[in-house]
Amino acid sequence: MSVSPDGSVAGMIAQLKSIAEKALADLAQASTLESLDEFRVAVLGKKGSFSEVLKGLGGIPASDRPAIGAAANDWKRKLEEALDARKSELEEKRLASQLESERIDISLPSRQPPAGALHPITQTTRKIIQVFSRLGFDVTTGPEIETEFLTFEAVNIPKDHPARDMQDTFFAGPGVVLRTHTSPVQMRAMREKGEWPVRILSPGAVYRCDDDATHSPMFHQIEGLWVDHGVKMSHLKGVLEFFAREIFGSDSKIRLRPSYFPFVEPGAEVDVSCFNCSGRGDDGCRVCRGSGWLEILGAGMVHPRLFEMAGFDKKSGYAGLTGFAFGLGVERIAMLLHRISDLRLMYQGDLRFLSQFRA
Ligand code: DAH
Repeated sequence: MSVSPDGSVAGMIAQLKSIAEKALADLAQASTLESLDEFRVAVLGKKGSFSEVLKGLGGIPASDRPAIGAAANDWKRKLEEALDARKSELEEKRLASQLESERIDISLPSRQPPAGALHPITQTTRKIIQVFSRLGFDVTTGPEIETEFLTFEAVNIPKDHPARDMQDTFFAGPGVVLRTHTSPVQMRAMREKGEWPVRILSPGAVYRCDDDATHSPMFHQIEGLWVDHGVKMSHLKGVLEFFAREIFGSDSKIRLRPSYFPFVEPGAEVDVSCFNCSGRGDDGCRVCRGSGWLEILGAGMVHPRLFEMAGFDKKSGYAGLTGFAFGLGVERIAMLLHRISDLRLMYQGDLRFLSQFRA
């Protein structure tokens, strides 16, 4: 842009007018907020077309300058006003289109976060603990990586004992195993407490080299132990009867069948009457398969050898201490209660299975 060709006052004013009028027309076409800024710089900026014209003021007599200045200010003001007006128009438009495109339908139902649930093994474990804690049993746990000694020798399973064949063992190192049962906790509890009664319940994972529809290399047991002066087999029976009624229903009965476990003498396998057919042993009963009984745990009177291993005084006849112990498989109880046919379902983490255990 150059100074007025004739350098006259009228010429300069006309030039400002033509720039301003063209600018106003262009402004009406400007469609983005960004282009308005460019526009402002190009016309009104330091190096804009308006300033270029006004540079010619130097060649104008001083008396004529105010007239040009007044005209320039007038146009500038109009342009500023027009810019501001266009700016608010475009801002409004932008907001309107944003509101349109980002519309939220507040009438849509909200998405519920999926609710979690405790695993059936945890649920069953807690239920069993609750029953025994009402009888005064304290929960205590032992390590899953256990010494070979406490797992076997200390609970009366010597190195060459055939009972070791019953439990194929994972060895974790020389003299160290993944415990094959929770029974070593009996020994830990007796050694650590050292006073009576010892009345503990010990839940936890155990490990065996087994893997099929009814055996898993890792599963869960709960061990029970009650040692005190004068604890008898009848106490064992009473405690287990209470347990069976609380877990399987108030009309449940139990029966003890003589059996062998190295850590008890006498030992028994304990059955509960079938809660599905009320112990009748119905022909088609899917739970007990017609026998009327369900095997639920092993139990017995603590073998004197364990007292000896715990460091009790043999000469004084272990000071009159006796005790009973029992051990049960949590998965087995959970499977019976929920009629689960395949043990492996417990470990697959399939939500179709797990979501059925929401409280
Ligand atoms: N430890 C046994 C097992 O894993 C279960 C058991 C049986 C525990 C009899 C006991 C008991 O305390 O008295 O097969």
